[in-house]
Amino acid sequence: MGSITIRQLDDDLKHRLRLRAARHGRSMEDEARTILRDAASEETAPAARQPAAARRPTPQPQSPRPTETADHLKRVLLIVGGGIAAYKSLDLIRRLQERGVAVRCVLTGAARHFITTLSAGALAGERVFTDLFDADTEFDVGHIRLARETDLVLVAPATADLMAKMATGAADDLASAVLLATARPVLIAPAMNPRMWSHPATRRNLATLLEDGVIVVGPNAGEMAEQGEAGLGRMAEPLEIVAAALPVLSAHPGKLLAGKSVLVTSGPTHESIDPVRYIANRSSGKQGHAIAAAAAQAGAEVTLVSGPVALPDPPGVNTVKVETAQEMLAAVNQSLPVDVGIFAAAVADWRVEKAGTNKMKKQAGRPPKLALSENPDILATVAHRTRGRPALVIGFAAETERITEHAKAKLARKGCDWIVANDVSESTGVMGGDSNAVHLITKDGVESWPPQSKQEVARALVRRIANALAETGR
Ligand code: CTP
Repeated sequence: MGSITIRQLDDDLKHRLRLRAARHGRSMEDEARTILRDAASEETAPAARQPAAARRPTPQPQSPRPTETADHLKRVLLIVGGGIAAYKSLDLIRRLQERGVAVRCVLTGAARHFITTLSAGALAGERVFTDLFDADTEFDVGHIRLARETDLVLVAPATADLMAKMATGAADDLASAVLLATARPVLIAPAMNPRMWSHPATRRNLATLLEDGVIVVGPNAGEMAEQGEAGLGRMAEPLEIVAAALPVLSAHPGKLLAGKSVLVTSGPTHESIDPVRYIANRSSGKQGHAIAAAAAQAGAEVTLVSGPVALPDPPGVNTVKVETAQEMLAAVNQSLPVDVGIFAAAVADWRVEKAGTNKMKKQAGRPPKLALSENPDILATVAHRTRGRPALVIGFAAETERITEHAKAKLARKGCDWIVANDVSESTGVMGGDSNAVHLITKDGVESWPPQSKQEVARALVRRIANALAETGR
């Protein structure tokens, strides 16, 4: 049997169906079903000529008020997990609707211990879905359609159990089956006891989910529902979740930074001693280049000012190649103004005061003494600009000890907004390696991200930047 969807109807028919559905207090799908049922019963029982109103089936209690499902309206499928934070998800429905987002809800079995389908359905204005093997649901919508007919799947609260199911691809209930079936962006707002959050199993699951491209908001630190317990594990507040969801909804998938300009510095600098020798460091430029590539993929106009590296130029990026710190500063100044400046280069702190124009000759038993002078601090120079300062200035901190403590001091000293701090001790293999475990330091505190590839760090940073710009309306 062929299938027909409301989207396939012509505009005029859709318009008339919408008005009729609104008049009867039903969703458009319920209205279409009612019309078909009426028509079918007329066919099978032509003698039973009753007024249409008498033949109309009892209105579905799941549709307490009409939901506008115009094509332009953004839709969120909200999966509510079983946790005390589920009550905040009711508020989240409202906060999303206030911003013109239609919300359809799936409640897990555990969630129904905390909130009811009635309260979620009343707020959403749509029936609430709960069971994988529900004859009505499967006939009517089904988990594949739930997974498809949305612009974003939002899991709030995302319990440790739901995260574990998502990470392993389990699909033994409606929520997990939808999450496995969806190709839409997925945003989760974890909420659990701090010990569960810090357990290695949850850390592993989180790393897998980030690797899979799942977007994470929170959790926040604070008091737990359990008496006397505090720590990291409280679900992000509804407005924080909304702030994380809106850029995903408003942009084309993957175009979170459309219309924004981004400057990235990357790689080491080489400071000449003479025409054949130079001072350098072990930076490969992999992290900075990955950030430039991720920002370009997200639709930004990107300028990458790169020191000498053995990497290809990222596609879609304007790459400016420099050697020294002074050249890097000049190239950076040239590319301003920008919306966001990300300073990932490992700039040499010193240069040789007087680099030789000829090769220095070795003199037996008399090694040369190199007089050094300080290089300009590019990050601090840009962050302290009074005119033409990027709206968001992000530095990096390469540390080998007391990582977050030193990085916090750098944030204050250099005047930037965020610092991405990493441990570059030899044992971590970060310098030149492909993975990175970073701490994001902002004025609000420290977030420790799980170890992940440099590409994933780049994508996560791009998402954070998009959220920050959206929150401040920039
Ligand atoms: N940075 C810069 N210009 C410099 C030195 C550093 O723009 N001359 C930037 C880096 O790109 C990075 C941040 O400053 O974003 C911190 O760099 P890092 O090497 O960690 O710190 P330093 O300032 O060199 O301090 P220290 O050597 O004491 O760790």
